[in-house]
Amino acid sequence: MAGSPAAAVVAAALLLLLSLSACASSSAAISSSSSYPPLAPGLSLDFYKKSCPKAESIVRDFLQSAVSQNVGLAAALIRLHFHDCFVQGCDASILLDKTPAQQSEQEAVPNQTLRPAAFKAINDIRDRLDRACGARVVSCADILTLAARDSVALAGGPAYKVPLGRRDGLAPASQDAVFAALPPPSSNVTTLLSFLSKINLDAADLVALSGGHTVGIAHCGSFDDRLFPTQDPTLNQWFAGRLRLTCPVQGADNTTVNDIRTPNTFDNKYYVDLLNRQGLFTSDQDLFTDGRTKPLVTKFAVDQDAFFEQFIYSYVKMGQINVLTGASQGQIRANCSARNAGRSDDELPWSVVENVVDAAESLVL
Ligand SMILES: *[C@@H]1O[C@H](CO)[C@@H](O)[C@H](O)[C@H]1NC(C)=O
Ligand SMILES: *[C@@H]1O[C@H](CO)[C@@H](O)[C@H](O)[C@H]1NC(C)=O
Ligand SMILES: *[C@@H]1O[C@H](CO)[C@@H](O)[C@H](O)[C@H]1NC(C)=O
Ligand SMILES: *[C@@H]1O[C@H](CO)[C@@H](O)[C@H](O)[C@H]1NC(C)=O
Repeated sequence: MAGSPAAAVVAAALLLLLSLSACASSSAAISSSSSYPPLAPGLSLDFYKKSCPKAESIVRDFLQSAVSQNVGLAAALIRLHFHDCFVQGCDASILLDKTPAQQSEQEAVPNQTLRPAAFKAINDIRDRLDRACGARVVSCADILTLAARDSVALAGGPAYKVPLGRRDGLAPASQDAVFAALPPPSSNVTTLLSFLSKINLDAADLVALSGGHTVGIAHCGSFDDRLFPTQDPTLNQWFAGRLRLTCPVQGADNTTVNDIRTPNTFDNKYYVDLLNRQGLFTSDQDLFTDGRTKPLVTKFAVDQDAFFEQFIYSYVKMGQINVLTGASQGQIRANCSARNAGRSDDELPWSVVENVVDAAESLVL
């Protein structure tokens, strides 16, 4: 079904209906039962109330239409927000463009069609916000946060409020910083927890945030170490056979969905996959092997509301990592892909952070 264009259209239409009905009741549904982490100083839930009152509806209206045409965009935006926040905080540094010097390296990595679509969506939203509220009012970091939040709801997940007021970073992270911040998908829970503890995220955050894999795709290279040279014995045999059709040899340039049950819907089926040993990455499946995370996986597999509640808490918490706030920190970019011209014009320390992200799914969340 997933391969048929007609089925995809029907699925998209259903998603749109779902999201429309979710929106109709959203003001009542929003986070009435969810608890929130404390807000970071400088952020607030109504930051643009005066300066850009329509900011949230502009982002949502744009994405409602864009995601209905391409559900993959939702997955890409959700993942982009993870990657932005994990590396030097949620400052939209992930959006900064490469210089021509980096292009050749970009060509070396597997094609990633979602990333350009996600970047284009952010800049299209930026244009709409500029027209409605003036240039440099809403930050790119907040646009990304809102876009990720709306993507969750548009893909069938919960609607919730997000704190706003982030400012944009001035420079991308170094490649070393990226590797230091993002564990590879071959990581076990011990490794994952040690990465997450550096940014004050815990085991519950790990299990809930990994649930973002309920949507999206991954390249063979992110998981084929589980097939070759010998098969990971924790893999369900039927599932392994299916993966081998997609990735017949190590290093094949092909992709598959992260959640085989409902690949385009934000729901709790990812955890059902794990219970059936059908998690795609080692970092997914080990959540059900390790005693510190297994109880929560089991709980989320049978209780979607519990997953949604913890996801909101953990995603909002993640969305506040090392944010820049107030007039003295960072800037509000006029173009989300480039630092504002006019401040010191010294050569920026352009990094290959985007190449690393291109390499995909390569990274754990
Ligand atoms: C990768 O991208 C290039 C340029 O857009 C395209 O020509 C090529 O067919 C793509 N390869 C795959 C495997 O998608
Ligand atoms: C987790 O992975 C690390 C690094 O590969 C390894 O040293 C450690 O033994 C693993 N732990 C478990 C419990 O498998
Ligand atoms: C890619 O995966 C599909 C099934 O998911 C398979 O039919 C196709 O042969 C694979 N392509 C390659 C080059 O392995
Ligand atoms: C934004 O910046 C990128 C990277 O410098 C550039 O390619 C693009 O043309 C810019 N967009 C606009 C609208 O100026």
